[in-house]
Amino acid sequence: MRALLPDPVDDLDDRALERLYDYPPDLRRPWVQVNFVSSADGAATVAGRSAGLSHPADKKIFALGRDLADVVLVGAGTALVEGYRGVRRTERRAERRARLGLAETPPLAVLTGRCSFGPDAPLMADTLVPPIVLTCTSAPAERRAALAGAGADVVLAGAESVELGCALDALAERGLLRVCCEGGPTVFGELIAADLVDQVCLSVAPLATAGAAPRVAHGWHAVPRNLRLASVLTEDDYLMLRYRRD
Ligand SMILES: NC(=O)c1ccc[n+]([C@@H]2O[C@H](COP(=O)([O-])OP(=O)(O)OC[C@H]3O[C@@H](n4cnc5c(N)ncnc54)[C@H](OP(=O)(O)O)[C@@H]3O)[C@@H](O)[C@H]2O)c1
Repeated sequence: MRALLPDPVDDLDDRALERLYDYPPDLRRPWVQVNFVSSADGAATVAGRSAGLSHPADKKIFALGRDLADVVLVGAGTALVEGYRGVRRTERRAERRARLGLAETPPLAVLTGRCSFGPDAPLMADTLVPPIVLTCTSAPAERRAALAGAGADVVLAGAESVELGCALDALAERGLLRVCCEGGPTVFGELIAADLVDQVCLSVAPLATAGAAPRVAHGWHAVPRNLRLASVLTEDDYLMLRYRRD
C-alpha cells in the first residue's frame, strides 16, 4: 500500500499502518471511528451488500479497525444483511492486541430497537466473546430475555430507541473506549447527527455504479460537520482515506 499523505511512502509496512490508524493515547471518553467503503459515485452497496466494493487493501484497513478497537459497534441491519459472526481470532490480531495491551478479542456491540435477531443468529451463536446488545425499553421483553439468557450483555440505553450517547456511556462503563463502528448508513447518520464521530475511515472503490444504492450515511436532517484529511493511502486505484473531526 502506498501512502500519499501525510508522508509519501512507497510501501507502507504493517507497523507503520498500525501507527497511522491507532487510537489516541490515554482516552478518557469513548472515541468513535467509523469504517466504510463506497464507490466513486457514492454507493455503499452493490446488489445490497458491501462485498462488491471491496478489495484486499480495503479489507486490510477493515481488519486493522477491529485489531485496534475495544469494541466493534454495528447496527442490526448490517449485522443481519452481512451475516455477522463474532470477531475471529487470527495470529496477527492476537499478536497485535497483546502487544497493545488490548483484550484478545473485541466484542460486537449491536444496536437494535426491536431485538430483531434471536439467540440462534450467528452473531450470538458463533462468537468467542458474548456480544453486547444495545437496545431500549420498548424492545419486546421476551426477546430481550432470550438474548440475555443466551449470554448477551443486554443494555437498555433509551426508551423508544437507543440514545447513542447513552450507549457509548454504557460501553465506557465496561472499559470499552476504542469504538470501531462498521455501520451501516443509518447508524453512521445518527452518529453524525449526535456529533459523536471522531474519525472516518473511507475506502473509495474505482467503480461507478448508478442504481439506487444508499450512501454511507443518511438521516432526516443534514448536519454538516467539518472534517480534516488525516491520511491518504492507495493501492490498485483504490483510495483509503482517513478524516478526523476538525
Ligand atoms: N459500504 C459499507 O462500508 C457498508 C457498511 C455497513 C453496511 N453497509 C450496508 O448497509 C446496509 C445496512 O444498513 P442500514 O442503514 O439498513 O442498517 P444499519 O445502520 O446497520 O442498522 C439499522 C438498524 O440498527 C438498529 N438501530 C440503529 N440505530 C438505532 C437506534 N438509535 N435505536 C434503536 N435501534 C437502532 C435498528 O435495528 P432494529 O431494526 O433491529 O431495531 C435499525 O433497523 C446493508 O445493505 C449493508 O450491506 C455498507
